[in-house]
Amino acid sequence: MANVRLPDDFFFGAALSGPQTEGMWKAYGKLENLWDLWSGENLGAFYNRVGSYGGNDMGARYAEDFRIFHELGLSSCRTSIQWSRLMDADGHLNREGADFYHKLLAAAREAGVEVFVNLYHFDMPAYLFRRGGWDNREVVEAYVSYARAAFTEFGQEVEHWFTFNEPIVEPEQRYEHGNWYPFHHDFAQARRVQYGISLAHALAVGAFRELQAAGTVRPDAKIGLINCFTPPYTRENPTPADLEAVRMTDGLGNRWWLDLVTKGSLPTDVLDTLAEHGVHLPVRAGDDAILAQGVVDWLGFNYYHPARVQAPKQTVDEWGNPVFSEEYVWPDAVMNKSRGWEIYPQGIYDFAMTMTHDYPDLDWFVSENGIGIEEHHAARTADGRIDDVAYRVPFVADHLRWIARAIDEGARCKGYHYWGVIDCWSWNNAFKNRYGFVEVDLQDNYCRRLKASAEWLRNVAVTHVIED
Ligand code: BG6
Repeated sequence: MANVRLPDDFFFGAALSGPQTEGMWKAYGKLENLWDLWSGENLGAFYNRVGSYGGNDMGARYAEDFRIFHELGLSSCRTSIQWSRLMDADGHLNREGADFYHKLLAAAREAGVEVFVNLYHFDMPAYLFRRGGWDNREVVEAYVSYARAAFTEFGQEVEHWFTFNEPIVEPEQRYEHGNWYPFHHDFAQARRVQYGISLAHALAVGAFRELQAAGTVRPDAKIGLINCFTPPYTRENPTPADLEAVRMTDGLGNRWWLDLVTKGSLPTDVLDTLAEHGVHLPVRAGDDAILAQGVVDWLGFNYYHPARVQAPKQTVDEWGNPVFSEEYVWPDAVMNKSRGWEIYPQGIYDFAMTMTHDYPDLDWFVSENGIGIEEHHAARTADGRIDDVAYRVPFVADHLRWIARAIDEGARCKGYHYWGVIDCWSWNNAFKNRYGFVEVDLQDNYCRRLKASAEWLRNVAVTHVIED
């Protein structure tokens, strides 16, 4: 293998989210969100009983963190505003919360780091969840008011906006697989929630366009959506039923969102199959016109692992839900055992080629990629650093090599954000798996310390060269 070079205008940055970093869960008028609610009800559900409260202390350390990003050669980072911090329970702007984000954005500017702002990262305010969450149109409307307030308040400061991070995850984790609060196993509800989020996305894009036309949002601002697209694969010599499993996995997880953000509609083959199984979306007159507003300026692609599926042995599960696919365990899979996710760097290239072929006009970037490893026993070098080079560097280098190849073959991939450049809180895994190039020492007041891999990241971000 030879050295590989990424284009000069390819950007490098960090991906993070408000609820996983800020902490200060009751400061600046912040309301309870679903993570705070679940932490309060059952702290034992969180690794080492570390709930949502502290984040990684970025709320107190953002200036330091932006300086670290800059020193690592990163020009941008994406985080999220927390709905539960920016708005009060009457749906009005919470001035204290807004001022917090103004200060955070100013600190980033001072450090030379651009902040991409995402509006929602699995963090529904608890009082709105109690009113039905995404299953209730009034909550969809409340989200749009929140989005309007954010565009209005920060419209002159922020250039890159996103409506949602991984909108497929809440339908699946909360309502279908029962892993996250409120632990439902209801396929039909999951699809209603998915539909509600789709409407919310489209309405927010519509509001963004309107406020941009009025001059409230700066003229060079762009809006997009971020999703964890999983390139779908099945076994060799597939049966028609295996291919059908691929179609629905791809349809619900990937094409649903890709069609929404490029065509302003949802894939009819998927809707038809759902209807054949008695799953009907709560469509109202006028919804087509709402969805049509959902076309974005660009897209974020979070990539951790592929989806390997095959025809299911049972087509109905124990809760009476339709089943369209089951996991196919690929014998050659290389696993990240800490997380249980397959490592398959070529997937990033395969998705890039799908984009180039099926959605050729859309710019996109890799908005998350990373490896989370249990590092309790990791070796510390003599200078006190965690030595993570052996697993973190090849992981990132391999993915970047496939990105470079895709760009050479025409992919419109504009940049790469590594997830959790600084270790952060990971939902109910809390601080179990560490993603960072920078350690957060929980035994030392969240102190930041570069890991051994950090020098490699800085070198790649500055030179754009991935050495052999
Ligand atoms: C993405 C999310 O799915 O993956 C992040 O956008 C998340 O919020 C990241 O933290 C890594 O997953 P996990 O579950 O290991 O934290």
